[in-house]
Amino acid sequence: MEKLVVHGGYTLRGAVKIAGSKNASLPILAASLLTDEKVVIRHVPDVSDANFMVQIMGQLGASVERSSGTVRVNAQNIHAEATYEQVRKMRASICLMGPLVARMQRCVIPLPGGCVIGDRPVDLHIRAIQALGASVQVERGNLIIEAPNGLTGAVVDLRGDHGPTVLGTDNLMMAAVLAKGTTVIESAAAEPEVVDLANFLIKMGAKIEGAGTRRIVIEGVEKLHGCDYTVIPDRIEAGTFMVAAAMMGDGVTLFNVCREHLETITELLIKCGHSIEFNEKGTSVTIIAGKNPKPGEIKTAPYPGYPTDMQAQMTALFAVTPGISVVKDSIFPQRFMHCSELKRMGADIKVDNGTAVISGVDKLSGAPVMASDLRASAALVLAALKAEGTTEIHRLYHIDRGYENICDKLLGIGAAVERLPDVEE
Ligand code: EPU
Repeated sequence: MEKLVVHGGYTLRGAVKIAGSKNASLPILAASLLTDEKVVIRHVPDVSDANFMVQIMGQLGASVERSSGTVRVNAQNIHAEATYEQVRKMRASICLMGPLVARMQRCVIPLPGGCVIGDRPVDLHIRAIQALGASVQVERGNLIIEAPNGLTGAVVDLRGDHGPTVLGTDNLMMAAVLAKGTTVIESAAAEPEVVDLANFLIKMGAKIEGAGTRRIVIEGVEKLHGCDYTVIPDRIEAGTFMVAAAMMGDGVTLFNVCREHLETITELLIKCGHSIEFNEKGTSVTIIAGKNPKPGEIKTAPYPGYPTDMQAQMTALFAVTPGISVVKDSIFPQRFMHCSELKRMGADIKVDNGTAVISGVDKLSGAPVMASDLRASAALVLAALKAEGTTEIHRLYHIDRGYENICDKLLGIGAAVERLPDVEE
């Protein structure tokens, strides 16, 4: 185990290269199992979630080679039974369901368990695969999904109580590409990661229209072929560094970003008084912290709304912004574990019923804190960069799930951070 030790108060200046998107890479890796031909996927981030996915695919029989950010998959001979030991480390393993059933007509996937950011049921994934004609049974904690005669296209409405589902849309799209006939996904998720998966599938020979809107139409094909594909930049890693720069930056430039995917975050940071300038192509952005930052109000929503995955980081910024800010998470109303740790650093936050009310304080002070999930740990790192003194962030493995080389990237822009062995765990 390791901890991150952050000595706060250093001005951030310099450049960071943003990695490929974690949340696009995971379903794209899974989708490479849809073909027996060779697939090359570039810009897969070196984060533990992507590495878990690569491991699981290997255990399912695929040959998966990784060198830097390039993953080469050959899934000629695979089986379709994943074990709990393999998938318990990562909920996103559920997105193996669609490709495995489509290709193998049967799969066994352990049901994901509880999650610190909320209940996170998979009812919509199950409803989707059933709509395509598969049977679903639960035995000893495993989902056993069978479609001995293959899948058949259908009209499926994927709206849940908290809006559309990202991985549910991915799963259905991956199942439908090899189904007989046409599938229409109503109330589909429109996140850039869903569009990236659709573009990858199209490059493999799938027929998909409407990705990025609430209605996706998929015409099933007999077979998919290999391809060479580059994953989009990680908008959440970029957003996290944008917030770091808004808190402590005097000219931080991020490369490998996509302006369009960062619109909501950019608008909010500008409204809160920070300077954000993209290059003409929208592929790099420079952030300078505002001299008179203002409080703000956010309510998370499906894309193009404000992302739930950027809620904790913005809470850290608001914690040191004068005035009252309000953060409501309507997608994961329980996703506020970071607030109790921020309070240990001196933040003034009241959380009630899926909403955090934050009264900005003059300063935070370093403290030992505990990361509880990926984005909560990012919020703690941001607060620690601003705080007076030293912060020790325990359970660093949470941040390694989704941030590539975070320590080196922060060191590169002038932060004083170090990874040390954690004797407490
Ligand atoms: N939901 C259901 N039933 C389902 C599926 C989802 O009720 O069958 C609910 C969820 O409980 C939640 C809402 O629908 O309230 C949206 O969840 P969604 O299914 O969209 O989440 P996900 O696909 O499991 C992905 C990202 C998450 C991100 C969410 C929301 C990946 C691998 N994960 O999860 O990313 O928070 O979409 O945008 O793409 C992260 O990167 O830190 C992370 C948690």
